[in-house]
Amino acid sequence: MSIRTLSISLSIAALAAAAFAQGGGRGSEQQAPAGPWMDKSLAPDQRADMVIAQMTLDEKIQLVHGGQVPRGTLSPSNGGAGWIPGIPRLGIPDINMADSAVGVTRGAAASRYSTLLPSTLGLAASWDLKAGHLYGTVIGRELRDQGYNMSIGGGVDITREPRNGRNFEYDGEDPILAGKMVGQLMKGVQDQQIMGDLKHYALNDQETGRNIGNAILDKRSMRESDLLAFEIGLRDSQAAGVMCAYNKINGDWACENDYTLNQVLKKAFGFQGWVMSDWGGTHSTDKAAKAGLDQEMPGSGFFGDALKKAVESGEVPMARLNDMVHRILRSMFAVGVIDNPPRRQVVDVFKGLDDAQALAEESIVLLKNNGNQLPLNGAVKSIAVIGSHADVGIVSGGGSAQVDPPGGNAVPPPPPPAGAQGRGGRGGFGRGGAVYFPDSPLKAIRARAPNARVSFDAGTDPAAAASLAKSSDVAIVFVNQPMSEGRDAATLSLPEKQDDLVAAVAAANPKTIVVLETGGPVTMPWIDKANAVLAAFYPGIRGAEAIANILFGEVNPSAKLPVTFAKSDADLPHPQIAGMNLTPAGGRGGLPPFDIPYTEGLKVGYKWFDAENKEPLFPFGFGLSYTAYAYSGLKVTPAGNGLTVTFSVKNTGRRGGQEIAEVYASLPPGAGEPSKRLVGWDKVELAPGQSKTVTVNVEPLFLSIFNEEKNGWQVVGGDYKVLVGGSSKTLPLANTVKLAGN
Ligand code: BGC
Repeated sequence: MSIRTLSISLSIAALAAAAFAQGGGRGSEQQAPAGPWMDKSLAPDQRADMVIAQMTLDEKIQLVHGGQVPRGTLSPSNGGAGWIPGIPRLGIPDINMADSAVGVTRGAAASRYSTLLPSTLGLAASWDLKAGHLYGTVIGRELRDQGYNMSIGGGVDITREPRNGRNFEYDGEDPILAGKMVGQLMKGVQDQQIMGDLKHYALNDQETGRNIGNAILDKRSMRESDLLAFEIGLRDSQAAGVMCAYNKINGDWACENDYTLNQVLKKAFGFQGWVMSDWGGTHSTDKAAKAGLDQEMPGSGFFGDALKKAVESGEVPMARLNDMVHRILRSMFAVGVIDNPPRRQVVDVFKGLDDAQALAEESIVLLKNNGNQLPLNGAVKSIAVIGSHADVGIVSGGGSAQVDPPGGNAVPPPPPPAGAQGRGGRGGFGRGGAVYFPDSPLKAIRARAPNARVSFDAGTDPAAAASLAKSSDVAIVFVNQPMSEGRDAATLSLPEKQDDLVAAVAAANPKTIVVLETGGPVTMPWIDKANAVLAAFYPGIRGAEAIANILFGEVNPSAKLPVTFAKSDADLPHPQIAGMNLTPAGGRGGLPPFDIPYTEGLKVGYKWFDAENKEPLFPFGFGLSYTAYAYSGLKVTPAGNGLTVTFSVKNTGRRGGQEIAEVYASLPPGAGEPSKRLVGWDKVELAPGQSKTVTVNVEPLFLSIFNEEKNGWQVVGGDYKVLVGGSSKTLPLANTVKLAGN
């Protein structure tokens, strides 16, 4: 090698090293050498077995735990949350996993941009399966561009606990809505030839004591609620992975739970991909391996040398290790990460922004609109915009789903007191609190009301905010509820005395509109005083434009609640979150072990409110529009043990819109079910005066109960009352049919 070539190679190496140091890594782009398993016409299972036949024991072990970077060496990982080194001699690339629940995370460390989408709870509010697919497409596309080949988003723990800190990463309280939405989302990811996963399996429905809590729920309720969401999501997406949760389920850790992993996920669902542990959620070698865990993440404490020894001694059969490896490799072949590895390029920022806005416009729910105050018209002379840093930003969800905002936090946290330790890292917000994206509702409102005086008040002093509101035609109060992995909200109340702010402003101006930027449902003690209310959840990087477009009527709101909004904590199945009152006294997560008894069983969300005859603040499936719809002509016909439901929806108002038409069923009394369940829906686009016939096919699974004795699904023979309408509480059409059952 000449001196010149040597020095060029050295400087390339130096550059590469710098890239790795920034989390740039080598990505998942390695070229695969030829081998018979590279024949794309062969089935993924066959290709996986051909590779396994060539692998040494060490190579197999290497694939079933997180990669270790020797001290003092630069990490070849891509900078994501998880990394499994590949086997270059066999053409198996590294697996680079990125947290990407609402957008690709950890961008800042490598100076990469990622689009922050609306929260997945907001996505669920769209009830739009095409939107779900688009959501996954954006994530898959940006992962590819950044050199990743696996998304570890896909949260689908249902909202048993409306104060759960991670509800913004999940898809609401109904297993069928949640399962269908996450299924399309993950399909969207995998259609980009990026592996996806669903998490956190299962019953990780609260963050309080998530590393120590023991969720208690009977099998029937489990299969018909929390696990059903996974079953549907996996069936519809064929996701490569499932991440088992931190908590225990009926006494066994979720990552060594034979019932949920082996018996349900692998046997009953027929899941062909692999189970990885949540980070640090592996608790054993032998038990976990035999119960169905396939990969320890992110370390090697149990599935490294310990597993190797267990296999050598025969304690864990080689066949089981081969099964773990097979599941990983077959998924890589099936999704296409070996045949079509990611190629880095600059993320298409513009496309991402457009997609984020389109998704946000479909996910914002209009909850109240007295006297049709909205949409605002151009004649409004003065507008007071108040609160939630609406002059500069939109709040986002924290923890491992936190996407890094371009240019940094739009509301920089105050510097820590001298000598104090930062609270950054997983499990909480970065030091100082919530992260705001640089997207200003104030600016977006000004752009749509160029002739109005639009003033801003921070809302820190309710009296000052009220005085600005009083001197304005209209007041728009933005309030927020920052939520994060690692902690729950103690109550459904808005934090930081924002209820007092809204009450003061609404008292000063009867034309007060409230915009909620929240992780999940909140209470609204001021609801009778506020004239209009929008639930924007966390609306993403183009949230401000989407909110303004809805406020000014450029977009007609069409979203509906994927969760019940309760009037008070006392109305919930558990007025207080289990473990909330415990004081740290050792144990993982700082708390002593405790049970989380899900005594409500099947009655999650609206099913609870129905059973208890409690009036919610806003019911599941509710959302207003700037037009109105009428339902008529219901016909229900049995289709085997499923149903064909047809009816007409008419737009009776004066502007075009999209109506989410919801179909519920009451099962025969002998089935022992809550009074009704959602079994289908359609989102129908209608011009003013237009009427459409809608057909919803209800599959038998959605009408089934889980029969514990038979250990299987069953359609109970008898009368099924089918109810159709625009929310779980407004169901004008009803018809009863008999199903034979099975
Ligand atoms: C979270 C997971 C996440 C993982 C990796 C865990 O603490 O529960 O959702 O994927 O960290 O960041």
